[in-house]
Amino acid sequence: MAAPQTPVIEPLGRHHDRNGFSCGEPALDEYLRQRASQDTKRRVAQVFVALGSSESEIAGYYTLSAAAFRRDDLPPKLAKRLPHYPIPAAVLGRLAVSSNHQGRGLGEHLLTDALHRVIAASNALAINAVIVDVKNEAVKAFYQRYGFQPFPKQPMRLFLPLSTLAEAGTPQDVRIQIKQ
Ligand SMILES: CC(C)(COP(=O)(O)OP(=O)(O)OC[C@H]1O[C@@H](n2cnc3c(N)ncnc32)[C@H](O)[C@@H]1OP(=O)(O)O)[C@@H](O)C(=O)NCCC(=O)NCCS
Repeated sequence: MAAPQTPVIEPLGRHHDRNGFSCGEPALDEYLRQRASQDTKRRVAQVFVALGSSESEIAGYYTLSAAAFRRDDLPPKLAKRLPHYPIPAAVLGRLAVSSNHQGRGLGEHLLTDALHRVIAASNALAINAVIVDVKNEAVKAFYQRYGFQPFPKQPMRLFLPLSTLAEAGTPQDVRIQIKQ
């Protein structure tokens, strides 16, 4: 079943069918089934889901948490503009699209929605960059399409400075800015 053109993306709730989600990466399915609700309750991660063809079907999801990195983690050119104390960041811990919704733009919608929420949050709580840990080169390529770049000493940890999205207001603005 195709995902809606502009998907509804909302916080994970009890009415969502977590068991029906399958994206081809067992660890990501299992996380949604077994840990996502607990992480939300414990304020370890916020989990957002994109609806499929019903109000309970999960077509995709992502998680957001707070974190920090060191300026020395960055390429020297970016590092020199930052202080020596920990730099605040948002972590896009997981992002997945169910197998039957992949390849239709939902991954891009989820990513732009996540970035939009981070930008909104950063007006109240400073966030310098968005970080994502990738499991393999194929997924790395997905994020690099949107301007994420690897930390020099951690090739599977990518970052996107929020300053690159400074002008973005709506999710659509974010989408236009990150689309490369
Ligand atoms: C990776 C994933 C999130 C992409 O979601 P999707 O809905 O299939 O992707 P979209 O349809 O939104 O694709 C957006 C763009 O990225 C491209 N793209 C998709 N997957 C890609 C990949 N693995 N590598 C490079 N580019 C990719 C698409 O071609 C598309 O570009 P286009 O607009 O120029 O055609 C999804 O395939 C997935 O969940 N995979 C399994 C779970 C996983 O590994 N998640 C990542 C955990 S870190």
